[in-house]
Amino acid sequence: MSKVHVLFVCLGNICRSPLAEGIFKDRVKMLGRADEFVVDSASTSGWHDGKLPDQGSINIAKKRGLDITDQRSRKLTENDFETFDYIIGMDDSNLENIRRVRAPKNGQLLKIGQFYAAEPNKCVPDPWQQDENAFAFVYDMIENSVDALIEHIDAEKK
Ligand code: 4NP
Repeated sequence: MSKVHVLFVCLGNICRSPLAEGIFKDRVKMLGRADEFVVDSASTSGWHDGKLPDQGSINIAKKRGLDITDQRSRKLTENDFETFDYIIGMDDSNLENIRRVRAPKNGQLLKIGQFYAAEPNKCVPDPWQQDENAFAFVYDMIENSVDALIEHIDAEKK
């Protein structure tokens, strides 16, 4: 069976999308389904290429039992639209920036907030240079969205 390729994207790829990558990987691992997926994250800006995730993201991940320090920021490329079945933005401006790189295929580009039942279609607020609570909110929001995202992917496979 071919693997499902999932790419999480935000502006800097140091705060939100590294958390989304780490949380999604952890969830599919917990489900015993890690080998079904290839998961990565990227930025639309390229401003932090090669950098570790932001300390705020590293800290909240560690607090919740995840190590995301193997990740390095990289910029979204045109080729990612060939490689990844799903490209998932964190907010509306991410989606706009992603579309500027290349036109996505039907159903390829999603927003993580589509899967956030508490407040459907909410944007993940940018926590950059904010306090620990901002990073905790981002973590919780993504964690509360990933199961519905996985269900969406599974439903499309059928
Ligand atoms: P992210 O957060 O998009 O969640 O990684 C940001 C990181 C850096 C900047 C903005 C947002 N910046 O302006 O450098």
